[in-house]
Amino acid sequence: MLFNPRPKTRREELYDRRDELERVEDGLRKGLGLVTILGIRRLGKSSLLNVALNELPYGSVKIDARKVYSEFGNVPREALAKLILEGFLKRSGKERARELARSIRGVRLLGFGVEVEVERGVNLYDLLERINSLGERFVIAIDEAQYLRFSNSRYPELIAWAIDELENVSFVLTGSEVGLLEDFLRLHDPGSALFGRPHLEIRLKRFERHQSVDFLERGFDELGLRVSREEIDEAVDELDGIVGWLTLYGYNRYLGLGHSRALQRLKEDARRLILAEFSRLRELSHRYELAMRAVANGKHRWKEIKETVEILEGKRIDDKNFSNVLSNLVRYGYLEKTVDGYVIPDPLVELAFR
Ligand SMILES: Nc1ncnc2c1ncn2[C@@H]1O[C@H](COP(=O)(O)OP(=O)(O)OP(=O)(O)O)[C@@H](O)[C@H]1O
Ligand SMILES: [Mg+2]
Repeated sequence: MLFNPRPKTRREELYDRRDELERVEDGLRKGLGLVTILGIRRLGKSSLLNVALNELPYGSVKIDARKVYSEFGNVPREALAKLILEGFLKRSGKERARELARSIRGVRLLGFGVEVEVERGVNLYDLLERINSLGERFVIAIDEAQYLRFSNSRYPELIAWAIDELENVSFVLTGSEVGLLEDFLRLHDPGSALFGRPHLEIRLKRFERHQSVDFLERGFDELGLRVSREEIDEAVDELDGIVGWLTLYGYNRYLGLGHSRALQRLKEDARRLILAEFSRLRELSHRYELAMRAVANGKHRWKEIKETVEILEGKRIDDKNFSNVLSNLVRYGYLEKTVDGYVIPDPLVELAFR
């Protein structure tokens, strides 16, 4: 159903995004070595990725770099190697996985071939080369790939090498902290490993108003729920075109909540979630939160945001330092810089900081 709150895996559950899906699938069919899917949180990056991987006939593995990071405090190559091999094992079976493992130093299959053990010194180049040599396309998808920056291994170099040398291996990277992922990959920086490499970039946008309305109408139709146009309009006014929020509103209605209660519950849950996600930045500096509060309360110009934060902090802030604060908030996707100054791209994030 359209209001299923989990990331979607099948096309029937995916509203629109036909064009983006076609582009991702076409890119991979044509053997592109790198596809990036970018967009702020809750726009459906993971869903798009899931559906594309399910529909294509290739072997693939999906790795959540944020999860690896939260487990290890960085993204070590042996963890990636293990996940890649486990994906391979699931797809191609024990026999082929054993064959593959045998040819790579530092890798073993244990427990009758169902468990993968990888030593610290494992060589990812070796692993990818062996997978490539099997002659079938294999897609390595890394969700929230900006977390790859937390590693001693230089992953952009690895990906650049794979693009050049391995015709059967493709990477798909998604990122919600778009600026961070861009700074990490540096695809357009002549001094970087990935510069000039062929790749496809998909940027997910918010739904247009008419799409959001249509999405809710179809979701309610599917459930046989009668919901008035006024309620749908109000939900879209409050949630904008962020499909993740629209889905949760619909899901709350599905659970039996009335319109106002469904919106209210969503806002409370969203606030908790958003502030928890933000805690990483808050731990770096209290100033990030103050700047967000200033913008949420109607300050949009650099100077007026700075003045507000100075009042809240009770002291003067160095210009350069403050510019860093704002540009980091942009890199993390909490702010967008527009002709009207700095704005918060998600209405519930704005509400959480008001
Ligand atoms: N095109 C779509 N049609 C219907 N539901 C969707 C669509 N895209 C996303 N959703 C729903 O929106 C929510 C967020 O989707 P998803 O997790 O794929 O987004 P995301 O961009 O990966 O988010 P995050 O940045 O938090 O990882 C989920 O509940 C998912 O089911
Ligand atoms: Mg996601």
